[in-house]
Amino acid sequence: MKSVLITGGAGFIGSHLTRLFVTKYPEYHIVNLDKLTYAGNLENLRDIETAPNYSFVKGDICDAELLSSLFDQYDFTGVLHCAAESHVDRSITDPLAFVRTNVMGTVTLLHTVKDKWKDKMEGRIFYHISTDEVYGTLGDEGFFTEETAYDPRSPYSASKASSDHFVRAFYHTYHLPVKISNCSNNYGPYHFPEKLIPLCIHNIINNKPLPIYGKGENVRDWLFVVDHVRAIDTIFHQGKIGETYNIGGHNEWTNIALVKELCVQIDAKLGRAPGTSEQLITYVKDRAGHDLRYAIDATKLKDELDWMPSLQFEEGLSKTIDWYLANTAWLENVTSGAYREYYEDMYGKA
Ligand code: NAD
Ligand code: DAU
Repeated sequence: MKSVLITGGAGFIGSHLTRLFVTKYPEYHIVNLDKLTYAGNLENLRDIETAPNYSFVKGDICDAELLSSLFDQYDFTGVLHCAAESHVDRSITDPLAFVRTNVMGTVTLLHTVKDKWKDKMEGRIFYHISTDEVYGTLGDEGFFTEETAYDPRSPYSASKASSDHFVRAFYHTYHLPVKISNCSNNYGPYHFPEKLIPLCIHNIINNKPLPIYGKGENVRDWLFVVDHVRAIDTIFHQGKIGETYNIGGHNEWTNIALVKELCVQIDAKLGRAPGTSEQLITYVKDRAGHDLRYAIDATKLKDELDWMPSLQFEEGLSKTIDWYLANTAWLENVTSGAYREYYEDMYGKA
């Protein structure tokens, strides 16, 4: 049986990726290494936690000793590296936490893999999951391609860009068999409610203000998380070593239009009068250094590996809202405790 390491498997994307690999590939033993920060939650994996081909290890990717012993124990043939600090606003208040995990953690992991795979790189894959934010920001036109020059502008995107550079450096210098993907904004079940879509769903349900940064004119390209992990699966198994693939939804929305769409859908689902939830929209101070627009050109992935998003956005959004409405206990659980302090720091006690 092949062993595959997933880092950050208890987070939003990591949990969907872990579920996909555990259920689709019974011939792989999946080891999920996660530090369980505020963003990591084993509730996200309840349905697969007793699967015979799944193990969880609580630990930090910065812990070289732990990594070394795990590689000795499992002799991983694949690594899917998802663990990261992922929220831009948190990176503005605490950049060092992002350097520690996203840069130091990634390099510690790369270093271990290089040592453990020395003389046996053939058939092995180190897959680094990255973001479109490394490319910086777009004006009204154009798309990010795999050739777009890096121009990160937040501490988060700078740390992810740095980690991408290290992954490529290990490919060129030590011939580590790497693959990288850079994806646009994900949405879907188990998304931590500090990010725009789950935050607004939570606040609409609870009749709380919907904080829109600046004028709400910033544009993001949204992709259903299950489509993202389908793309990762495709690239992991069929992509070329040393290559980068952009993943996106061709689905651009201004923040204000997106939040209004959420209001319309949730009002209908909760039997509220049309227009009720839109009244919760509140314009607040803009994010520092707020990138205007992200938009991915995913032509390479479509042409070379035949990947396309499977869901229309309105359908994906509807499924996502239904999931949150059916899982209020999950939502209440993750919005208690430390989250409340974070929320009050960011948005006040509203
Ligand atoms: P998330 O914040 O929901 O989850 C991150 C996970 O990593 C958590 O389970 C956390 O406990 C774990 N973690 C954090 N620091 C760790 C450490 N030092 N050691 C071990 N585990 C640690 O993040 P996400 O939104 O699921 O993003 C996952 C990856 O995908 C990140 O690398 C992110 O940059 C990338 N990405 C995210 C998006 C998006 O829209 N969310 C889009 C493109 C790329
Ligand atoms: O593009 C991929 C990236 O998408 C990932 O790499 C990041 O990990 C992920 O967090 C996401 O980053 P964004 O900053 O785009 O996502 P966020 O949900 O934080 O914000 C989306 C947009 O909504 C952005 O323009 C800021 C705005 N916003 C966000 C919040 C939390 C608001 O207007 N109000 C809010 O309260």
